Amino acid sequence: MTTRRDGGYVPIEHPGVGPNLTIHGGVTIGRFTDEGTAATVSLRTGCGYIVAMRAGGATMLLQNMTTTLVQMRDTLVWHISAGFSLSAPWLTKTRDFPPIDWVAGTEGEAATMLESAVKIAHARRKFYAENMIANDQTTLPVRPDRPQIVILIDKDDFDDDDRARRRIQDALAELRRVGPAMGVVTFSAYLRGTGDYLSNSERETATTILAGRTRDEADLANVAEWSVRAFPRLAGPGHLALYDRGQARRLDAFRVTSLQIDDVADTAQDYLAGTRLDDRSADAVDEVYAERWNRTEVAEFLEYLRYGRVRERLNLSMDGALRINSAFDGLRQAAGPLVGAPDQVRTVDDLVTWCHVLRDVFNASVDD
Ligand SMILES: Nc1ncnc2c1ncn2[C@@H]1O[C@H](COP(=O)(O)OP(=O)(O)OP(=O)(O)O)[C@@H](O)[C@H]1O
Ligand SMILES: [Mg+2]
Repeated sequence: MTTRRDGGYVPIEHPGVGPNLTIHGGVTIGRFTDEGTAATVSLRTGCGYIVAMRAGGATMLLQNMTTTLVQMRDTLVWHISAGFSLSAPWLTKTRDFPPIDWVAGTEGEAATMLESAVKIAHARRKFYAENMIANDQTTLPVRPDRPQIVILIDKDDFDDDDRARRRIQDALAELRRVGPAMGVVTFSAYLRGTGDYLSNSERETATTILAGRTRDEADLANVAEWSVRAFPRLAGPGHLALYDRGQARRLDAFRVTSLQIDDVADTAQDYLAGTRLDDRSADAVDEVYAERWNRTEVAEFLEYLRYGRVRERLNLSMDGALRINSAFDGLRQAAGPLVGAPDQVRTVDDLVTWCHVLRDVFNASVDD
C-alpha cells in the first residue's frame, strides 16, 4: 500500500498530537498493511521488543512510540541509548518539563535507572497491595499522579563495561518479573533474535513483539512462537511485522521528523506539567532520581545541547556563543518582540535571519 511500484517506500508521517491520550488506550505505531486500520500495541501490563537488522527502523520505532507516549497524561518516558542518541532530539532546548523524564546515555546510568525502576516496582507493590486486593485488582491502576513508566531501550552500542552490564541484566530480569503489574514496563530493540540477544525470560513475558527486516531467518528463530517459513517479506525500514496470537501482521510504521519532535515536545508541556512520580515511588529512589539531571554525564550532555551545536557549526567558543545569544536577548528586551528572530543563534542561517530581521526594523524606522 505504501510501497511504490519502483520498490521505493513512501513514509507515513506520525499523526502528531491528540488530547487526552492515556496509556490505557494503547500506542498506535502505524497502520496495518492489509486493511489500513490502526496498528496499536499495549505497553500497559507487558514488556515488548523489536528485532531488526542495522538500519531496520528500530530507532525510528522508538521515536514513534515516544512521540505518542510523551503526550499521555499518565505516563513517563525513560530512554536508554548509547550517547543519548534517542533522547537528543527531544532535549534540544531547555523546557520547563523535559519530555523524557530520565535519560541514560552510558551503561552506568542505564544500570542506575533500571535498578531504580525495580525499587519503584517493589515500593508500589508494598504500599498499594492492600488497596488493590480490596478492589480486586491484579494490576496497579495508573494515573497522572502515579504514572506508568515506559523505559525504551535502543540497540546497545555502549562501550563495554562488564560490571554495569551485569547490573543491567540483573535489573532487567527482576523488572520484567515485578514491573508490568506495577506500571513499569520496558520496550527494547535488538539486532538479532538469537539467544545471546534475547533472554528466555524476556521472550516468554513480552506481550508486544515486533520484527523489522533481518539479515536472515535465523535471526528470528527465537522471536516468537511462529513458523519462520511463513515470515512475511518486509519492504523497507518502516515496514514491520507484529506478532499477535500466532500470526505475523505486516504494518507500516509512522515516521517522525526532528521538526515534529520539537513541536510535540512543545505541545506536550501541558500534559507533562501534570505528570509526576508518586511519593511512594519517589521515596524509594530518592536522591538517585532527584539528582538524575545533575550527574556528570547528563550535565555534559545538556551543555552540549545548549552550546555544542553553536560551537560546531559557527566555530564559536562556548563563551562566544553565550555572548552572542545574550547580546540578541538584550536586543529583544530593548526592542520588544522582533518578528522572525530565532530563539537562539546556533547556525550561520540563524545569524543571517537576525540580520534580515534587523534590516526590516531599520527600514521601518527610516520610513517613519
Ligand atoms: N517508519 C519509517 N518510515 C520511513 N522511513 C523510515 C521509517 N523507519 C525508518 N526509516 C528510515 O530508515 C533508516 C533507518 O532507520 P533507523 O535509524 O530507525 O534504523 P535502526 O534500525 O535504528 O538503524 P541502526 O542499526 O543504524 O541503529 C532511516 O533513514 C530512517 O529515516
Ligand atoms: Mg538505531
